[in-house]
Amino acid sequence: MSNPVFSNLPAPKPDAILALMGKFRADERSEKIDLGVGVYRDAEGATPVMRSVKAAQEKLVSQEASKTYVGPTGDQEFNALLADLALGNSVAKERVASMQTPGGSGALRVLFELVNEAKPGATVWVSDPTWANHIPMLNAAGLTSKTYPYFDAASGTVKFDEMLAALKACPAGDVVLLHACCHNPTGANLTLDQWKQVADVLIEGDLLPFFDMAYQGFGDGFEEDAAGMQLVASMVPECVIALSCSKNFAVYRDRVGAAVVVGASEEDAKLAMGQMGSIARRSYSMPPNHGAAVVKGVLRDAALKADWIEELESMRLNMLNLRTALANELRRLSNSDRFDFLAKHRGMFSRVGLTSAQVDWIREERAIYMVGDSRINIAGLPADRIEYVASAIIDSLANAD
Ligand code: LMR
Repeated sequence: MSNPVFSNLPAPKPDAILALMGKFRADERSEKIDLGVGVYRDAEGATPVMRSVKAAQEKLVSQEASKTYVGPTGDQEFNALLADLALGNSVAKERVASMQTPGGSGALRVLFELVNEAKPGATVWVSDPTWANHIPMLNAAGLTSKTYPYFDAASGTVKFDEMLAALKACPAGDVVLLHACCHNPTGANLTLDQWKQVADVLIEGDLLPFFDMAYQGFGDGFEEDAAGMQLVASMVPECVIALSCSKNFAVYRDRVGAAVVVGASEEDAKLAMGQMGSIARRSYSMPPNHGAAVVKGVLRDAALKADWIEELESMRLNMLNLRTALANELRRLSNSDRFDFLAKHRGMFSRVGLTSAQVDWIREERAIYMVGDSRINIAGLPADRIEYVASAIIDSLANAD
């Protein structure tokens, strides 16, 4: 062929998290530890299928009568159950449009496209920093990104005053992307009072809140993690939410999520649902249903739901214990409170506050993998190797800048 079609393609931009996964797999050192990708691991280092999920799956497999298409918007009972889980009674049900998507990422993409249809090229303000895939995804949907200050690396806390000032200066009609809980990558989150102040600024500035809710139940508790988002939703005229079940149901590869729109009116919600269905149809046509059917099986069965909440709570407490143990060990080894913030953070992630040279040193010399910005997945810490990880962090301070 004289002009091969694909020869002129640019090389792909590497994704920091996925590139690290590849490097970890290729590393042959037996002592290696993966603190990179956000996957929950138990004490044995495994990511098991949850008890409640397994039970619902077994029931589904034995009773499922058909695998015919579910339609572009998915299973309506699943859609309602997911919206309820995230929103509770914070808004009137008629104002809610909820659509099953391939994972939380599918929900993000659908919602970015929906926003772009309603406001072509709109600006989305994202926290500095944010999840590595937010900006590529919203750009791919035609939107523009700008950042608002969020994380103060020196103290490990939210720069709330600066954040609020930046939001106050956003032009009316812009979109503000907010991590509903368990901020990724920093682990630093807003208090309920701060959420209230954010809501006031959003209303005053006529800004659209766009929530990414990927870790409900991994922070302060299942209800607590949704409280800030529910408060905002109850106050603002409209908002959107990308929901993921990957982490809290541990159904990562099954791709389960939902795109939710709270419209200003019932009519607006219907319009949004119609457009989301069209976006799905022209992108992937219909969502996968096995994982969503399993999640629905858990949520519609009171006993399974109670068991799921119990399992989720034990995962949350396990992460909290690991946080405290790591912070204590770092306090002991450094003889300082420099890393105490790790115990105050919530969710899977924290930014340790190392330079990229220190992160590289830790990976090369100690076989510990963290993302280049020094984000660690707390759930990836083996409980019996906390001292090894803490020592590596302390040693990196002296051996690399
Ligand atoms: C992460 O941030 O590690 C997870 O959300 C997984 C991913 O797809 O990046």
